[in-house]
Amino acid sequence: MSFASTILFIADSHLPYNAWAETLIDGLGYQLLTASCEADASDLLNDAQVDLVLADVDSRNCDVVSLLTSLRFKHPDLLRLLLVGEEYGIRLSEMLSRTAAFQYLTKPLQPAQASLVFKHALEARELARRHRRLAREFKIGENARCFDAKPAAYAKDKVSHFERLVYASEPMAELCSLAREAARTHLPILIEGETGTGKELLARAVHFHSSRSASPLMIQNCGGIRDELLHSELFGHRRGSFTGAISDRLGLFRAADGGTVFLDEISEISPSFQVSLLRFLQEGEVKPLGSDQTKIADVRIITASNKSLKQLVKNGQFREDLYFRLRGFELEVPPLRARPADIPVLTEFFVGKHGALLGNRIRGVCEDVIDIFKAYHFPGNVRELENEVRRMIALAKDGEYLTRRHLSPALAKLKASSAQAIVVVSQDEARTLKQIVEMLEAKIVGQVLQKHRWNQSKAARELGLSRVGLANKIKRYALDEERATR
Ligand SMILES: Nc1ncnc2c1ncn2[C@@H]1O[C@H](COP(=O)(O)OP(=O)(O)OP(=O)(O)O)[C@@H](O)[C@H]1O
Ligand SMILES: [Mg+2]
Repeated sequence: MSFASTILFIADSHLPYNAWAETLIDGLGYQLLTASCEADASDLLNDAQVDLVLADVDSRNCDVVSLLTSLRFKHPDLLRLLLVGEEYGIRLSEMLSRTAAFQYLTKPLQPAQASLVFKHALEARELARRHRRLAREFKIGENARCFDAKPAAYAKDKVSHFERLVYASEPMAELCSLAREAARTHLPILIEGETGTGKELLARAVHFHSSRSASPLMIQNCGGIRDELLHSELFGHRRGSFTGAISDRLGLFRAADGGTVFLDEISEISPSFQVSLLRFLQEGEVKPLGSDQTKIADVRIITASNKSLKQLVKNGQFREDLYFRLRGFELEVPPLRARPADIPVLTEFFVGKHGALLGNRIRGVCEDVIDIFKAYHFPGNVRELENEVRRMIALAKDGEYLTRRHLSPALAKLKASSAQAIVVVSQDEARTLKQIVEMLEAKIVGQVLQKHRWNQSKAARELGLSRVGLANKIKRYALDEERATR
C-alpha cells in the first residue's frame, strides 16, 4: 500500500537528508517531492496527489505551522507530520494541536524511525478510510458521493487549479491554458462572461502567473462611479483640484507601477472617460487631476465586463478604437450551465471551504443533489452555486451528508431532468449512438423551450447556445410550439 504513496518534504535545505531520500525512493518505492518555500509547497500540493507531508518547523521560508493548519481544511485527507528540534518543549503540544499532526519526528532525523512512522501513518489512514466506507455503506447506501474517500465517481473528474480557480471541464481547461499564455505577455486582456462566472478570480490568476506578480495588483470597479472620482482613483489628483481633494493622491496606475490594474465593469465608463483611458493605453502617461505634469506608469490592464463590448460597439455605446486596444487577449468565461463537469468539483471545493469556515464537518453530497445542480440553469453562476452550498451546510448537522432536503426551495422542486431523459432515450431499441444523441438533444431543447414558454433568448441562454444556434436546432428537429404543448 505504501508503494505508490507520495511524500512532500518541506525544509530550507534537503542536502543533509539526501541519503535518507534515496532509501525512501529506491529502497521503499515512495515518491518524494521537496519544497523549500511556502509557494513551492502550495503549488506541489495543488498539482500532485500528495499523501503525507513532513515539514521542518525551523524552515525560514515557510511558516510551517500556519501552512499545515490551513491544509487541515484544504486537504483534509493529507497526513501531516512535523520535524522539530529539541528546544520546542511546551510549544510543541500547541503546534501539534493546531496542525492536528499525526506524529512528530525529532532532529537529527533517524531514517529507520521516519520510514516506520510513514508506513504506520499511511496504514492508519487506509484503515480509517475503509472503516468510513463500510460505516457509510451500512448507513446511507450507494447514493452518496463522499469527498473524504474519493470514490470512483470523483476520480474521473480530475480537478485542476489555476491559482484559486478550480475546474475539471474542457471549456475551462481551454480558457485557463489561453489565460496562461496571455499571462506571459504584457498585452491588455479583456475578460467577458456572465455575472459570478469567476472573471475576477481569473484576472487575479493571470496577474499572479505573470512576470508582474511581485508588483501590485490594483482593482477598480468602474460601475456607478462619477467620472471625476474615477479619474482621481486611477490617475490621481493634486490637493485642491476639486472639492474634497484635501491631499495629493497617487492614483492606481502609478501605485501599481510594474504590476497590473484590473478594471471591472468596464462597459459602464462614460464616453469622456473612454477617451482618457484610450490616451493612457496609447501613451502610458498619467496626468493627475489639477496637475500639468505627466508621469509614466508601466501597468498591464485587465478589464472585465458582463455585457458584450462588441455589441456595445455595434450600438455605438462604446468606442471601437478603445475596444480594439483592450482586447489584446479576449477571454470568455463560459456560464456554469455550459460546463456541467465543473459542478461536482466546485461543489466538493465549496463543501470543504465552507464546512471548515462554518465549523460543520460534512461527510459528502448525495448524487441526486449533484444531478439537480446539473439540471439547474444557475443564472448567478458559480457565485450562486457557492451560496447554495454554504446555505445547505448551515442547515445540515455536523457529520451529515448534504441531501435534497437541504436544498433551497427553488432547487428542491427541480427534477434531475437530463439524467432521466438519458434513461428514457436509451431504452429505445436498435438506434445508432448518433440517433440517440440527436433524440436526447431534441428532447432537452424542447423541454427548455417549454420551460421558458418559447422565449428563445432565455432558452438559448440556459442551453449555452447563441440565438442563431438555437434557431438552427429548432429547424433541424422541426420543433414547434403547438406540437410541443399539444
Ligand atoms: N472556478 C472557480 N473556482 C472557485 N471559486 C470560484 C470559481 N469561479 C468563481 N468562484 C467564486 O465565485 C464567486 C464569484 O467569482 P468572481 O467574483 O470572480 O465572479 P465575477 O465573474 O467577477 O462576478 P461579477 O460579474 O458579478 O463581478 C467568488 O466567491 C469566487 O471565489
Ligand atoms: Mg467581478
